[in-house]
Amino acid sequence: MTCLRIDRCPAILAKWLWHPLGFVFERSQIRCPPPAALGPTLLPWIGSESGKAMLLRVPSLTPSLPPPPLPTRPVCGIFGYYNYQVPRTRLEILHLLLTGLQRQEYRGYDSAGLAIDAVPMAPDAAPNAPAPPALVVKGPGKIVDLEALVSREMAAGGHDPASRFEVHAGIAHTRWATHGVPSTANSHPHASNAAGDFLAVHNGIITNYKALRGFLQGHGEVFATETDTEAMRMLEGAYGLLVKSRHHPGSLVACKRGSPLILGLRGSPGCVSVASPAKGGEATRGAVAACAPGARPGAWECFVASDAAAVVEHTKRVIVLEDNDLAHIWAGGYEILNAEREGDGDGIEAPRPVPRSLQTLEMEVSQIMKGGYDHFMQKEIHEQPESVLQTMRGRVKFERSSSETDRYRERRIKLGGLTEWLDTIRTGRRIIFVGCGTSYHACLAARQTVEELVEVPVALELASDLLDRRAPIFRDDTCVFVSQSGETADTLQALEYAKSRGALCVGLTNTVGSSIARATHCGVHVNAGCEVGVASTKAYTSQVVAVTMVALALSEDSIAKRDARDAVIDSLGALPGALRRALALDPELARLAGRLAGETSLLLFGRGYNYATALEGALKVKEVALMHSEGLLAGEMKHGPLALVDESLPVIVLATRDAMHAKMLSVIAQLRARRARLIVVACEGDAEVEEACGVDCLQPIVNVVPLQLLAYHLTLLRGHNVDQPRNLAKSVTVSEEDGSLNCSRGKRGKAVPNGFGAR
Ligand code: F6R
Repeated sequence: MTCLRIDRCPAILAKWLWHPLGFVFERSQIRCPPPAALGPTLLPWIGSESGKAMLLRVPSLTPSLPPPPLPTRPVCGIFGYYNYQVPRTRLEILHLLLTGLQRQEYRGYDSAGLAIDAVPMAPDAAPNAPAPPALVVKGPGKIVDLEALVSREMAAGGHDPASRFEVHAGIAHTRWATHGVPSTANSHPHASNAAGDFLAVHNGIITNYKALRGFLQGHGEVFATETDTEAMRMLEGAYGLLVKSRHHPGSLVACKRGSPLILGLRGSPGCVSVASPAKGGEATRGAVAACAPGARPGAWECFVASDAAAVVEHTKRVIVLEDNDLAHIWAGGYEILNAEREGDGDGIEAPRPVPRSLQTLEMEVSQIMKGGYDHFMQKEIHEQPESVLQTMRGRVKFERSSSETDRYRERRIKLGGLTEWLDTIRTGRRIIFVGCGTSYHACLAARQTVEELVEVPVALELASDLLDRRAPIFRDDTCVFVSQSGETADTLQALEYAKSRGALCVGLTNTVGSSIARATHCGVHVNAGCEVGVASTKAYTSQVVAVTMVALALSEDSIAKRDARDAVIDSLGALPGALRRALALDPELARLAGRLAGETSLLLFGRGYNYATALEGALKVKEVALMHSEGLLAGEMKHGPLALVDESLPVIVLATRDAMHAKMLSVIAQLRARRARLIVVACEGDAEVEEACGVDCLQPIVNVVPLQLLAYHLTLLRGHNVDQPRNLAKSVTVSEEDGSLNCSRGKRGKAVPNGFGAR
């Protein structure tokens, strides 16, 4: 176990990390308890606020069990707002902070909180003269609840909403709890002590938090909460942190490792030159200087957020912080320092100023609004004809050359981020697709297409399972990591694992600049557009299209596959139209949902390409409609599940025209014979089931639409929250891993730092 080397922490953070103990440790002085000292391996009861769950003890076959996985912290949303010489009233600041949280509410929605200054900074105040304790408002519930709480507390405390702040640093947080129930105490911001000297909001996983608590408690520290955030004085794991202190009024410190954090800039901030830090000492701050040559630093605002969606309505100029970056925002400017890990990650290099380029967000404000729809999930389902087109735009050449010679040479798929790697992939041992949940289903839906067109063995792995097994991965394997968010902890850890085995790592994500996009050697952006609803819909269909495009690109030199490829490309062209027709079924699916809303269970059968559709349809119904549903491989029906079938259990069968059609007709016959309550998804005008679709391999993209609509309507009728399903968050940057993968750097050199390069 390693501990953060605090003697080299940049000034303000180091102070906060060590302030309560009043002294600075050398690394050698820090004795973190060994894993075995973390507590009993098995606890007799697992407590929760709502009740106690019984734990059955079973004899262990191993003489001593390995230490239990450390509890981890889930994804949350951070928002910070900083204004300098841009006067804002208290009300405006509160509104900005609350809106910033609302844009990220999909990341967590069981408790929320914020901290603002109690009084405006006096213009003649000495620098770093302590300010009165900040106003902290926090509690369980959604952002609307926080809003109400803020109004009550401001009124009760007599805080004037019209008070003007020329300079102000506010922080806010929306939480998704796993350990530590949603409660006022466990809500962020957390304070360093009773006087609230330092306040922090945190997103991420402090993996060694138990050991740190024990260690700090041993030094007389008192912990006020159950959270890992409070133990952040010696960080290990992943974090995005935003810190405010009354000892540094008008300043914010943001730092990150593993969890995303971006700075949005509006106005003319200055940059700060930092003199080289003396060995082992603190960085000395230089004078504020203009970032752009000739420009004078002046009035400016800074928005700090876990997600660009919270920033885009204010500014499109952003800086994406990299791992081990620390941004210090104050007065006329900001500085960014980086404390790179040394070698195997055991030590921390002295922080040094680093240039971070200003980027322009390509996202539009409309993408984070619901438009004319009631819910994001509904909007995103209906956006699919455009989102799949967006995924293919500039990459697929739909028209074919008429001349035979040109046809032989022509490239109809252009995936810039992958071009240089196509030969390596083709000649590799295997292609292993890795993902979680819906992203895994997308890989499953497109697996056969890759097998048929590329003729390289294809394996599929659920990221968590790959990690649990430490499955063998070889240097000549290609691992493709598929993730909407690009931040999913399991997928990210599987990526680190595959890299440590020397495999070529390809990313396929919907989030430019995400951790997976940055950590992979090459990849493809899915370009489905921002997906806000927690249940993934348009990202799924675009992921299937993206994997299909990868298969087409990999098979472009194969004459034998030319006709098959042409057929797939033609069908891709027809896809948006077919999706529009599927969406027209909406009223029918609303009626069907009405008939099914009172059921407790639903089975979905599919095979071939549509096995994935069955799994994905069932997942949608489960996660949003909170109704038990099971996606099953139709070929397995008679090996067990048939026993469940009777006249009451609704069964959905996916029997569209494809190579599996005849087999699915037989499945239907068997189900009919058992008087099953059948709902059959068939192609328009299919005479046998009651016809004619395009290429088989793209049919699941169309077939999933009615299932998404069904899940949506079922959710409304069953009275559940469509966009924020119970217990779920959109990007799951939490895993049961203890983070101790001990991976060494892959042998293919550094991954492309800014994502996948040219598209
Ligand atoms: C289901 C859903 C999840 C995600 C899974 C992986 O609707 O959204 O199953 O697909 O958590 O997330 P990403 O794709 O962001 O890695």
